[in-house]
Amino acid sequence: MYDLIILGAGPAGYYAAEKASEAGMSVVLIEKSFLGGVCLNEGCIPSKTLLFSSKLLKQAKNSENFGVIASDVSFNMSMVISRKEKIVSTLRNGIAFTLKKNSVVVESGSGFILPKQNDVFNIRVGERIIEAQRLLICTGSEPLVPPIPGAQQPFVVTNKEILNSRSIPKNLVVIGGGAIGLEMACFFAETGSTVTVVELLPSIAGNIDNEISQLLKKELEKTGIRFLLTARVMEIGDKSVVVESDGARSAVPADIVLMSVGRRPMTQGFGLENLGVILEKNAVKTDEKGRTNISGVWAAGDVNGVSMLAHTAYREAQVCIDDMAGKNSAVNYDAIPLVIYTHPEVACVGLTEEEAGRRGLSVVASKLPLSYNGRFCAENESGKGICKAVIDKSTKTLVGLHMIGGNCSEMIFGAAAMVENKQTVEDIRKIVFPHPTVSEIIKDTVMQARF
Ligand code: NAI
Repeated sequence: MYDLIILGAGPAGYYAAEKASEAGMSVVLIEKSFLGGVCLNEGCIPSKTLLFSSKLLKQAKNSENFGVIASDVSFNMSMVISRKEKIVSTLRNGIAFTLKKNSVVVESGSGFILPKQNDVFNIRVGERIIEAQRLLICTGSEPLVPPIPGAQQPFVVTNKEILNSRSIPKNLVVIGGGAIGLEMACFFAETGSTVTVVELLPSIAGNIDNEISQLLKKELEKTGIRFLLTARVMEIGDKSVVVESDGARSAVPADIVLMSVGRRPMTQGFGLENLGVILEKNAVKTDEKGRTNISGVWAAGDVNGVSMLAHTAYREAQVCIDDMAGKNSAVNYDAIPLVIYTHPEVACVGLTEEEAGRRGLSVVASKLPLSYNGRFCAENESGKGICKAVIDKSTKTLVGLHMIGGNCSEMIFGAAAMVENKQTVEDIRKIVFPHPTVSEIIKDTVMQARF
């Protein structure tokens, strides 16, 4: 009998296992595939490994602007994929090591939830039944494949398959201009594919700041990516995608089609119904503590359908374990950063001006171009960037910060800390940023705000 069974060893599951063990619980973690989940095996880490290689290629090709002459630069996709596999394997071993160090028992196999008996949860793995007092569901999500005619053909792939491809397609069509679509479009455009992104909405990158979305589009167009916005895919034919836009139909050539129109929570096929756990829009319905409607059952990560980011999963997992341990904590979704790892990167946290308006908040926004910043100028020749701060007028607290350009993914945590801790303009004025760093732009932008 364990204190806790965790189903699924992605970021939510393995992090929760470590934290539960630190809190003194006996834990069993059940995983049917590899440790690390989608994020490590077919998502965040593989895509960032690939994007780093294409960034180096781009930099090498543009190095003359910096007085560096690199000739005969070439790209070997097979070597890039082999490197990615090595990195994934090293990180998987790291997770296994940490779990072992924390005395977490890892069970390989598909876990199936049986009806509860005598207040005990029973999970079947193969021939065995594992028992525990609590259950944490961390089964993640899977790519959504809409019922577009032709979408079942083998050259129509998801992030899982495209991140293992050892060749660069001549023509790539990306369906969906969200995070996955844009990152993959960026990688393949930088490495030589002709890339078309087809997006249903009039803008790319979801609900991010509108001006940043526009600038991202312009910068990606410079890499050669073509965007078809307010466009609907009607069918996928023989090596082509039929798109309807502005009432006109056109066929876009495609050797590979990437389907990146979102993900759906994994809630079927493992016995959730045996407990009567309530689902909402196919996601496990949870409260702010990660509790489901069934006492003793929590859920964290993509399976709750709330934010679907690995770092959200870590935080949700921590909140669930805190709740099990009797500690009071809750996720502040307004302080969770979002990053799109394209070149340039986009990094945001908190409210946009539009969202603040929708919530009836009166805010002041300030903005600076990244070219205001010395370090940015030293390291950029042609790239553009912006930093925008959104500040609550009445309390003078920072409620949002939005950036595009360079390595803003590495800076946004600073703004996330400010938003999480409700820091005021005066608090931020006192923080000393190292000079010269691009991060100084955060303070400079906040200080530009006029009330
Ligand atoms: P997404 O939800 O971010 O974007 C999907 C896009 O597809 C939306 O813009 C939507 O309007 C569009 N779309 C939907 N149906 C369409 C259709 N039939 N034709 C054309 N466009 C259509 O989903 P994505 O990019 O697949 O990512 C899935 C999840 O993974 C998201 O929750 C995302 O946040 C997460 N993720 C996050 C990353 C990051 O933080 N850097 C990287 C990769 C994934």
